[in-house]
Amino acid sequence: MLQQLSAEELPKVEKEISDFINTYTSHEELKKSMLYSIEAGGKRLRPLIILATVKAFQKELTTPVYQTAGALEMIHTYSLIHDDLPAMDDDDLRRGKLTNHKVFGDALAILAGDGLLTGAFQLLSETTLSPSETVLLIQLLAKAAGIGGMVAGQAGDMAAEKNQIPLKDLQAIHHRKTGALLTYAFVAGGILANQTEYVAELLETLGGHIGLAFQIRDDLLDIVGTTEELGKQIGQDEKSEKSTYPSLLGLEGARQALAEELGQAKIVIHQLAEVAEFQPQIFEEVLTLFDLEK
Ligand code: IPE
Ligand code: IPE
Ligand code: MG
Ligand code: MG
Ligand code: MG
Repeated sequence: MLQQLSAEELPKVEKEISDFINTYTSHEELKKSMLYSIEAGGKRLRPLIILATVKAFQKELTTPVYQTAGALEMIHTYSLIHDDLPAMDDDDLRRGKLTNHKVFGDALAILAGDGLLTGAFQLLSETTLSPSETVLLIQLLAKAAGIGGMVAGQAGDMAAEKNQIPLKDLQAIHHRKTGALLTYAFVAGGILANQTEYVAELLETLGGHIGLAFQIRDDLLDIVGTTEELGKQIGQDEKSEKSTYPSLLGLEGARQALAEELGQAKIVIHQLAEVAEFQPQIFEEVLTLFDLEK
């Protein structure tokens, strides 16, 4: 099911993004720079979660669903371009290719990020959804990506370099820098599938566990993964002396924390199955994406 969504439906999300960029960008080099990072690939996890959530509630995938998923992937890709800049994580490799600033220079990479960020909101404002649904999706995305969410998390992440912080503080950073956008994916899927407030709250709780699991996994893979598999340089967190789950708890402690978050996520999936017209199988498949071995 998930495999089929990836193969048959994600290309429609990708087309929404590239059509949008091609239609609206008034500067050739800026357009190239944005498309470079978008077309470099990536796992497309966040848009896939939106599609999977709509499907799990047995609703149709429509153009506004693809557009909402596209907007989220644009924001995520912007966050990676800026994350890789010399002033931030200073990385040379992303999605198996040179990072955006290595190809286009720092200035255009910053602007490509700016363009993807603002463009995402334009795209989301231009769907055929009702005005109230549109405003809600835009507001939640602004909150998730912005100054109380991902941007705040990135600020916390930078401040926690060369400075080991308590686990509780690290968890709060992870919730913002990674959890917020992943949580948005689940909640937006629920909104697009016309679910109740209560279901949206369960989806938010699920997103919290998945978000934390995802960053713990990312930090573990930075140690035990390979550059070939990940398409990005490993060993970066240790080099910049980041606070991470493995640096605070050791490899085994971090693995355990990952398993605990996934266990919690499973419980929420069962709760969802009790209250809604919901097919848990597809979410159980989503969970397997967070196994360390995957
Ligand atoms: C990387 O995200 C950044 C983190 C939040 C850890 P992904 O691992 O989803 O990156 P892509 O989209 O597959 O390149
Ligand atoms: C990045 O976390 C989270 C973002 C908001 C982009 P990382 O810095 O660990 O992501 P990678 O390892 O570079 O993909
Ligand atoms: Mg970073
Ligand atoms: Mg990084
Ligand atoms: Mg990382």
